[in-house]
Amino acid sequence: MALYPRECQLLNRVPGAVLHLMGQAVQVPAADSGAPVQAAETVRQLQALATPAGRAALTRAAELLAARTDAVTALARLRGEVGVELAGPAWGTARQREKARPAFGADTDRLLFTGDTLEQAGRPVLADRRAARLLAAGAASVADLGCAAGTDTMALARAGARVVAVDRDPVARELTRLNTAALGFTDVEVRDADVVDLVAAAEGGRVAGCDAAVLDPARRAGGRRLLDPDRWSPPWSTVQHLLATVPQTVVKVAPGLDHDRVPAGVEAEWVSVGGSIVEALLWGSAPSATWRRATVVGRDGVVHELTADADPGGAPVGPVRGWLHEPDPAVIRSGLVAVVAVELGATLVDPTIAYLTGDSPAVPPWVTSYPVTDVVPFNLKKLKALLRSRGIGRVTVKKRGSPIEPETLARQLRGPGGATAVVVVTRVAGAPTVLLCQAPSRGSPRACEG
Ligand SMILES: C[S@@+](CC[C@H](N)C(=O)[O-])C[C@H]1O[C@@H](n2cnc3c(N)ncnc32)[C@H](O)[C@@H]1O
Repeated sequence: MALYPRECQLLNRVPGAVLHLMGQAVQVPAADSGAPVQAAETVRQLQALATPAGRAALTRAAELLAARTDAVTALARLRGEVGVELAGPAWGTARQREKARPAFGADTDRLLFTGDTLEQAGRPVLADRRAARLLAAGAASVADLGCAAGTDTMALARAGARVVAVDRDPVARELTRLNTAALGFTDVEVRDADVVDLVAAAEGGRVAGCDAAVLDPARRAGGRRLLDPDRWSPPWSTVQHLLATVPQTVVKVAPGLDHDRVPAGVEAEWVSVGGSIVEALLWGSAPSATWRRATVVGRDGVVHELTADADPGGAPVGPVRGWLHEPDPAVIRSGLVAVVAVELGATLVDPTIAYLTGDSPAVPPWVTSYPVTDVVPFNLKKLKALLRSRGIGRVTVKKRGSPIEPETLARQLRGPGGATAVVVVTRVAGAPTVLLCQAPSRGSPRACEG
């Protein structure tokens, strides 16, 4: 969790050594001081960036970044202009802000991030939505259990809650302190505690002295996703205990969470933005309103919700008809394909594959519809010949239930023809099959093009 990653990586290597970095002598911390020393140094740098001189350094770093100045030149200039203490942290933070800008918008230039906390941060627009729903269930105070850079804390404060932001990482606590102050939120207490202990001590429907909670466990370690919820921090047992003891709760979980893990009486929601899953949520018994919810946020920002009060079971299966419907991933992950099938009068092409087929196109948002021109067994040579006979030289490849590599197949199918098509490689009644389709009338397919 460093503001100036490359130098910090070097600093980790040889404890006790003196390195000369960009003309500056830096002593590597002793082996036994490691992470706490680095965290203390990062906290000190963050505090320096929050001073008027630090803000000026950040402005200058942003200008150099906007002018596409290379890192070595920019750091040399910054050291000359704002001093060696601020140069590296300002440059590192300016770079993090550029990554944060698409999600954090106008607030970006008032906020501080480290690489780690930005990687773990949710989207503010979705944090606002979660906060509004949680507070609508009657909460006035909310514990943000694992606040990182404070995305949820800021959303909760913006929605009018008193917030207790908890993290055991000192850098996260400092970021939350500085970021909430920068946005002018005063009703925020930042606390050093272990969420496992706080949740174990929850009683009377309250945790950390608050009547509601947001829990967003860390689901990565060493740059890799932790697929096993028992290895999240805090682990699944804490998630379960919080949902069982604090009714006004929302927990962010991995989109791949097994439905069997969802406790009874807990609503599970999957959210997609622009056709990609971005988060999955478990709602405590107070805000829970249904069994499952698929929330689809369109590219235009409009939010659509599909719900089912009970498991709809599997959709009926039938032969491929004139249109292929590709369900949005939030619909698939939430187990609501059968609900959409009934709505569209559609059937599955195969009992194990989430592609639907019907006689007419469907309007968004639950599916993208493609007109089917051909249904052929999967055979590369014959497929190439078919495309050539139609003058199709570029294809978008989609696949479900097939081991093929879409990028590779799209390249293999490239030809001289000027026409385009969508090649869907899947199983139909158990057999490897290609559905040759035209591009959808609305929106554009999201697979790889050759
Ligand atoms: C996924 S991040 C939270 C991200 C945040 N909600 C956001 O959108 O910016 C998880 C945070 O929980 C903290 N954490 C993990 N285990 C913890 C524990 N047992 N006690 C306190 N904090 C913990 C981590 O330090 C990390 O900052």
